[in-house]
Amino acid sequence: MKEYYEHKTAAVTGGASGIGLALVESMLEMGARAVTISDINEENLNRHVARLSEKYPGRVQGVKTDVTSEFSVRTMVDRAAAFGSGNIDLLFNNAGLGLSGAFEEQDNDKWEKAFAINFYSVIYGVRAALPYMKAQKSGHIANTASGIAYVHFPYQSMYSATKSAVLALTTSLRYEYWDEGIRFSTVVPGTVATAIWGGGPIPDSAITPEQSAAGILKGAAENKRVIFVTEDDREGCLINALGAYVPHMTKSMDEYMLGVARARKAGSFSAI
Ligand SMILES: NC(=O)c1ccc[n+]([C@@H]2O[C@H](COP(=O)([O-])OP(=O)(O)OC[C@H]3O[C@@H](n4cnc5c(N)ncnc54)[C@H](O)[C@@H]3O)[C@@H](O)[C@H]2O)c1
Repeated sequence: MKEYYEHKTAAVTGGASGIGLALVESMLEMGARAVTISDINEENLNRHVARLSEKYPGRVQGVKTDVTSEFSVRTMVDRAAAFGSGNIDLLFNNAGLGLSGAFEEQDNDKWEKAFAINFYSVIYGVRAALPYMKAQKSGHIANTASGIAYVHFPYQSMYSATKSAVLALTTSLRYEYWDEGIRFSTVVPGTVATAIWGGGPIPDSAITPEQSAAGILKGAAENKRVIFVTEDDREGCLINALGAYVPHMTKSMDEYMLGVARARKAGSFSAI
């Protein structure tokens, strides 16, 4: 898989923390020549760019970006391509928030913000990268969803809806651009111990950002349609899909989800 990343130009949104940062570091280790870290958190961005620039001089840059602004994302992608002498090979639309809460507490303003950060950010990244990738007749865009794109948990309707939209968009585009040499993959990164958990309890089964990034980069190099980093996620998504079609499984899925809903309503909640 090293060959897939060696000498490549890449950009990673939300790249100054968690899974995004691990993607950046792994690609640099594998010999990527120009990696752009894009993040809204300037402090983390500057710190990690300084650290990585010492280790990989001239191969990493930081671009402060707000992925909810199309202008900001376009500027970042243009700078990423310029850093790579006019090419952009890999774009990871990774930035996102884990959103939860009761439906009745979420007004339109919150819904619009949810789609802005988790979904429109991806549209903006794709739109900005396409002209470069079409001209190159190559490139790979990996959009981060979540297992929740398949398994729609109660009290997480925003996270479910936004990440399902990412999955749907990415799958459609995969075939729309296949013949132009541009690859699209959806990323389901596993349950990963990162800042997204907001300091709350992280499940014991969580993997590290480095483990998640290794799985994502392997899956992208293999041009997977959906990159399931963990078997738990793959099985959970499969069982949920079967629950929609196989009568005896529908009942057990309903019972499981209802159990989750009732537990969450009673106050027992995990953030993702
Ligand atoms: N950690 C998990 O268990 C898990 C599971 C499934 C999916 N995901 C998804 O993985 C992706 C990465 O999450 P993570 O766990 O590494 O979280 P993280 O909080 O460690 O990293 C997210 C990064 O996105 C940045 N960001 C937030 N808003 C931004 C904005 N408007 N513009 C630019 N950058 C912004 C943050 O500053 C942060 O650096 C997210 O899309 C998340 O939904 C994570």
